[in-house]
Amino acid sequence: MEREVKVYTDLQRGTISKHIYGHFSEHLGRCIYEGLWVGEESSIPNTDGIRTDVLEALKELNIPVLRWPGGCFADEYHWKDGIGPRESRKRMVNTHWGGVIENNHFGTHEFLRLCELLGAEPYICGNVGSGTVQEMQEWVEYMTFDGESPMANWRAENGKKEPWRLTYFGVGNENWGCGGHMRAEYYADLYRRYQTYVRNYGNNKLYKIAGGANVDDYHWTEVLMREASQLMDGLSLHYYTVPGDNWNEKGAALDKHESQWFKTLKKAFRMDDLLTRHSAIMDQYDPEKRVGLIVDEWGTWFDVEPGTNPGFLYQQNTIRDALVAGVHFHIFHEHNDRVHMANIAQMVNVLQAMVLTEGERMLRTPTYHVFHMYKVHQDATRLEVKTDAGLYRYDEQELPAITATASKDSNGAIHISICHLDPNHAASLALKLEGIEKPLSAANVSGELLTANELNAHNTFEQPNKVEPVAYGPTSVSGQELKLDVPPSSVLRLTIRP
Ligand code: AHR
Repeated sequence: MEREVKVYTDLQRGTISKHIYGHFSEHLGRCIYEGLWVGEESSIPNTDGIRTDVLEALKELNIPVLRWPGGCFADEYHWKDGIGPRESRKRMVNTHWGGVIENNHFGTHEFLRLCELLGAEPYICGNVGSGTVQEMQEWVEYMTFDGESPMANWRAENGKKEPWRLTYFGVGNENWGCGGHMRAEYYADLYRRYQTYVRNYGNNKLYKIAGGANVDDYHWTEVLMREASQLMDGLSLHYYTVPGDNWNEKGAALDKHESQWFKTLKKAFRMDDLLTRHSAIMDQYDPEKRVGLIVDEWGTWFDVEPGTNPGFLYQQNTIRDALVAGVHFHIFHEHNDRVHMANIAQMVNVLQAMVLTEGERMLRTPTYHVFHMYKVHQDATRLEVKTDAGLYRYDEQELPAITATASKDSNGAIHISICHLDPNHAASLALKLEGIEKPLSAANVSGELLTANELNAHNTFEQPNKVEPVAYGPTSVSGQELKLDVPPSSVLRLTIRP
C-alpha cells in the first residue's frame, strides 16, 4: 500500500491561533525559583533577576502567552504579598507543592517583566478558592488602571507609573478540585459574581476565562455554558496524558518499553474526543463559537524522577514527549474553530517542560524542539489534509501510524508537520500538494527532522544535544508530489515555498 498525505492548498480552514502555542508557569517545584527566577544577586547570569540562558532559549520559541501563578497555587495566592520591597515580602508555605517556603520574591512586577522580556502576553489566574472579590478587583485595578486610583497610586509607588496591558484573566483554577471542591452550579454563580468586578479600565479590554472541566466532566461544561456563557470569553479544560491507570502509578518518564510508548500515545489521542465532546456542548449555547475553549493545562504527567521531591513534579522528557506534543498540536489545529488557546504544563523543570536546569546548567528538551519546529504554524491558515498512511499496531490495538497537519502563512509558504508514531518501521510516504499552480522542485523545499533510535532517548546535562532536529529533505520532488522517507519515532516539519 502506498502511504499518502494529501494537502489541499486551496481548502482553507481558518486561522490557527498563535495562542495554541502558549505556556504555563506555576509556583511549583523549580519552575519559578531556580528555573526562571534566580534574583539579581545570583552568580547565574540574569536579566533583572530572570536567568538569561533560559530567557534566551525561550525567546526562540515565540511564546505568545504565558499563564501564571497557577494551577493550584493560584487559589492560595494573595497578590499583595508579592509586591513592594522584596526583603519585606511575606513568606508563606506552598502547601500544595512540597510544603516549601515561598518568599514571594517573584510577584506581579517580576512576572510582567518576564512577559515583556519574552514578548509574551500575560495570562493571570485569579484566586476564587480562598480569595475575595475585592482582592481580585484590586489586582486588575493595580495592573491596568491608568490615572489616579488607590491601586494605581500604589503601583506607581512600587516603581511602575504606567499600567500594563493585560488581556487574559482567569477567574479561578480547577474549582472542582484544589480550587475549592465546588459543584459546577455553585462555581457558576461564583464566576458570575467575581467576573462582575474584573473590570475593563480605560481601553484595557479583558478576555475573561472561566474555570472549566476536568477531563470528561461534561456536566461542568454544560452548567457553565448554560449559566454563564454570556459573561465569559473563554472556558478552560484540563487534560493530562498519563500512561498509568491510576495517579499512584503514572509510569516513568524514561520508560523504554513499547507497551508504555503505545499507551502514552493512545492517551494523547484522547484529547481529540474530549475537544469534540466539550465543543458539541458549547455549540448548543454558543453556535457562533464566540467563547473559546482554553486548554490551559495539558501535557505528559509521569512519576517524578527518583530521588526528587514528590511535590516538585520534576520529570525527564524524551522523544515520546516530542510525539505527544506533535499529536496535540495536530489535534488543536483541527479544532481551531473552538480552541483559542492552549498552555502546556509547564515551562521549566515541571512536567512536560521546555527546558531543564541544574545549577548553572540548562538543556533543551525534545518537547522544546517540537515547539520550535512548529512555531511556523502560529497565526497561519490551516489547510485541509487527508492522511491515508496505515496503522501502528501493538498488542491487538491500533493507532494511526502517521498524523499530519498543514498551514499557509502570510507570505504564502506552506508548512507541513508529520508525526510518525510507529517505533519499529520506517515509512515511505507520498506527500501530494493539491491545488498548487507551478510544479515543485527540491529548491522549493526545506525541512527539519527530530528522531531517535531509543524509545526513551533524551537530553542530559552531560549530553544536552543528543535529541535535536537535523536538516531534512525529501528523496524526490516532482510536479505536485514529494517522496519522503520517514524514520520510525519521528517528528518532521517541511516548508514549501511554491
Ligand atoms: O500542573 C500541575 C497541576 O495540575 C496544577 O497546579 C493543577 O491545576 C493541575 O491539577
